[in-house]
Amino acid sequence: THPTRIFSGIQPSGNLTLGNYLGALKRFVEKQNEGIESIYCMVDMHAISVWQDPADLRHATRELAAGFIASGIDPEKSVLFNQSQVSAHAELAWIFNCVARMGWMQRMTQFKDKAGKNAQNASLGLFAYPALMAADILIYHATHVPVGDDQKQHLELTRDIAAKFNHDYGVDFFPLTEPVIEGAATRVMSLRDGSKKMSKSDPSDMSRINMTDSADDIAKKIRKAKTDPEALPSEAKGLEDRPEARNLVNVYAGLADMTVDQVLADHGGSQFGTFKPALAELAVEKLSPISTEMSRLMQDTAEIDKILGRGAERADAIARPILEKTYDIVGF
Ligand code: ADP
Ligand code: NA
Repeated sequence: THPTRIFSGIQPSGNLTLGNYLGALKRFVEKQNEGIESIYCMVDMHAISVWQDPADLRHATRELAAGFIASGIDPEKSVLFNQSQVSAHAELAWIFNCVARMGWMQRMTQFKDKAGKNAQNASLGLFAYPALMAADILIYHATHVPVGDDQKQHLELTRDIAAKFNHDYGVDFFPLTEPVIEGAATRVMSLRDGSKKMSKSDPSDMSRINMTDSADDIAKKIRKAKTDPEALPSEAKGLEDRPEARNLVNVYAGLADMTVDQVLADHGGSQFGTFKPALAELAVEKLSPISTEMSRLMQDTAEIDKILGRGAERADAIARPILEKTYDIVGF
């Protein structure tokens, strides 16, 4: 049995969104503060599975680190670093490319979503992404991964890879990692289309709230968010066929640390003309201290680089012996 250890990552591929905050960052901070050993990674190698301008990538990586710290991740308590600085991730990923089956990868819905109609022109890295993600997690023998609901399928694949490796080599080496998907806002949807998740890679800026948006932009985006003409119901089941309405209530619940039913107990019967300004005010209250701290931290990028460098050394100290043991098992 493996001691409890958390790993999770976020791509430095654009602005952090409210989805990243509620589905990931906010929960990472909760786990850290429960005292669980936690390793958090800027997954820059995943980011380049689609084109990234190098200067933008460097900036986004530092800004993401600032986002982690501003949200409450303490780089002394948790390990905070860049994926590309710890080469064991890439080395284990190759082994996992040889463990994972083509058919498993072909079932991954995120690849289909991200590659779109032109899958033949997608990078091989975008296709192999979940094997690198399995390596990110298993190179630390992480037992738990807090993620948004969109990552559930990739976590199942991570377990499949661990199980097949253990089986093929006759060892009990890699843990079967559990996803930790909890809270009201595990999948924040686009503000423009209730069937798509809010994502930093969505081309429409109106579809998402960025953590660094101004109070005015947050209010405007929520005001313009797609909704229906009905008032809010008084119970969660009244939201079943109303994806856009449900999304806004979920977001409110996530930000306020309430359940959906608690939010509806307060706001049931309200029109969106009343609820949206209340939601905007709450979002600004929660996000603006974080974005202020992010811009303060970004004034000293050398300090951010130093923090990430120290994090990489700590991460490498955990990963390297696990990689060496893996090489030994494989026969290298
Ligand atoms: P993005 O899809 O915005 O590029 P990443 O793939 O880097 O984000 O995901 C980073 C983390 O944020 C993951 O844990 C993911 O589950 C979470 N996440 C991303 N988008 C959302 C969302 N819309 N709702 C909830 N969690 C999300
Ligand atoms: Na994602």
